[in-house]
Order: sequence, then C-alpha cells, then structure tokens
Amino acid sequence: MDKHWKTAISGIINEEVHIHGYKITELIDKVSFTDAIFLELKGELPTEEEKAMLDAILISTIDNGMGPPSVTNARNSASAGNPMQAAVAAGILGVGEFHGGAIEECARLLQSGLTAPKLVEKVIVSAGKIAGFGHKVYTEDPRAKQIFEKAKSLGFFGEYCKLAQDVEKELEQVKGKKIPINVDGAIAAVVSDMGFDYRLGKGFFLIGRVVGLVAHVFEEMVREKPYRRVSSEEIEYDGILPRKIA
Ligand SMILES: CC(C)(COP(=O)(O)OP(=O)(O)OC[C@H]1O[C@@H](n2cnc3c(N)ncnc32)[C@H](O)[C@@H]1OP(=O)(O)O)[C@@H](O)C(=O)NCCC(=O)NCCS
Repeated sequence: MDKHWKTAISGIINEEVHIHGYKITELIDKVSFTDAIFLELKGELPTEEEKAMLDAILISTIDNGMGPPSVTNARNSASAGNPMQAAVAAGILGVGEFHGGAIEECARLLQSGLTAPKLVEKVIVSAGKIAGFGHKVYTEDPRAKQIFEKAKSLGFFGEYCKLAQDVEKELEQVKGKKIPINVDGAIAAVVSDMGFDYRLGKGFFLIGRVVGLVAHVFEEMVREKPYRRVSSEEIEYDGILPRKIA
C-alpha cells in the first residue's frame, strides 16, 4: 500500500540512516559539513569547485554584526529568559524580504527568462525595488564582489551572474545613479548558475545565519544580565498628551 509520508532525501535502511543513498557513518568518516549540505540540497556530493563555492556563500551569511533584525531578535529573546532553541527561532523570524530574504526573489527574477531591460522595467513598474540590489551602507558591497570573484575562479560565473551585472547597469541607466548588487543578489546569481531552484534561496541564508545566531544567543546568555530594555533616551512618545475621560 502507498504510504502517506514519502521522501527521497533520507531513510533508515538496514537499521542505518542513509542520505541520498549514502550511509551516514560513511559520510561522517569521509566528507565535510559543506559536502553534506550540498548532498542534502542537491542529491549528489559536490565537486571540489561546488564545495568551495557553497562554502564561500555560507560564510558570507554567517554574521553581519549585532545590528540586523535577525541578531537583535535572537539576543532580545535570550535576554528575556528563553532557551537556545526559542531565541534562535526568534532570530530566524527576523529574516524577511529586506534582510536575508532577497536571495529567493532575486533568483526567481533571474531565472524567469526576462532580459535585463525587461526585468528592470517590469519590477520598477510593479514593485519599485529589485530584490538583491541596493544597500543601506555600501556603494559597492564587498561581499558581493568577493562572491563574484570566487565564482569566476571556480567556473560558476555563468549566464545568471552576467544577467545580474547587466541588471545593475540597466538599473543605473533607469534610476540615474548606481544601485549596487548586494550580497543577496550575488548569491542569487551564483546559486542560479550552480543549478539550484530559486525556491531554495532563503535556505542558503538560513543555513549560514543559524551559526551566527547560536553564537550570539550563547554570548547573550553567558555575558549579559537578563532583561535588556531599550534605554529611555532612545524612546520618544509622540502620541496624544494626557487627557481625562469626559
Ligand atoms: C537594501 C535597501 C532597503 C536599501 O535601501 P536605501 O538605501 O534606504 O534606499 P532607499 O529606499 O532610500 O532608496 C534610494 C533610491 O534608490 C532606489 N532603490 C534602492 N534600492 C533599489 C532597488 N533594489 N531597486 C530599484 N531601486 C532601488 C529607490 O527607489 C530610491 O530611488 P528614488 O531616489 O528615485 O526614490 C533597498 O535597496 C532595498 O529594498 N533593496 C532590495 C531588497 C534587498 O536586496 N535587500 C537585501 C539587502 S542586503
């Protein structure tokens, strides 16, 4: 009879876990963590080049300081007295369309078959901003530059990386100023050239960022007093002045 829960990823065969056909004990013995991540996501072990590229991508997502919402969410949650798993989950909920989440949408656009001018025109008219472009601080995102350099040296600078750079040029023409491709955009282009489905886009950020979140939550627990609050100097009430019920 057909079973209700089916997976082609992993199973217990002869009382041992197998991932895409490989025994877990053989994987523990012979491969790296990045190899195993690639195997889980793609179903095959990576080549040396694929492994080096995925390694670079995951490192670029690990941490970006205490400021971004994923880290402040996680540390605030730990500060309130929540355990590791809850605080890390709070951090993951801090990932969104403007922080870490742009990889998926950018990869979707790049994989949609549109040329650079059509892509820019379509998004600017409907949504205004193109995921994977622009940055609060950088005029050139050094992480994006490094990811593209790595992609060139490892043979993954293909049609999608080229398209992403054409979109950057087109965007500059249309907006009259440089709106640089950011790290999310560079990752989106490279994972597209590596043959990953765009719907895995957010996954790459999450896999890397969980490492940073665990470290930040642990530091909050062992280094800080519980119950942090935003200082009153940083808070301004600008609502209705005190009044009485008539
Ligand atoms: C990251 C981001 C929030 C930075 O925003 P910002 O520096 O505050 O930029 P602003 O919102 O002030 O926009 C400044 C101008 O650049 C334009 N712009 C900024 N990012 C743009 C983008 N991705 N696509 C098109 N235009 C963009 C804005 O429309 C605005 O144009 P205007 O002056 O004609 O109104 C923004 O670029 C964005 O939303 N990017 C897409 C999401 C993304 O990639 N996030 C990952 C960040 S690592």
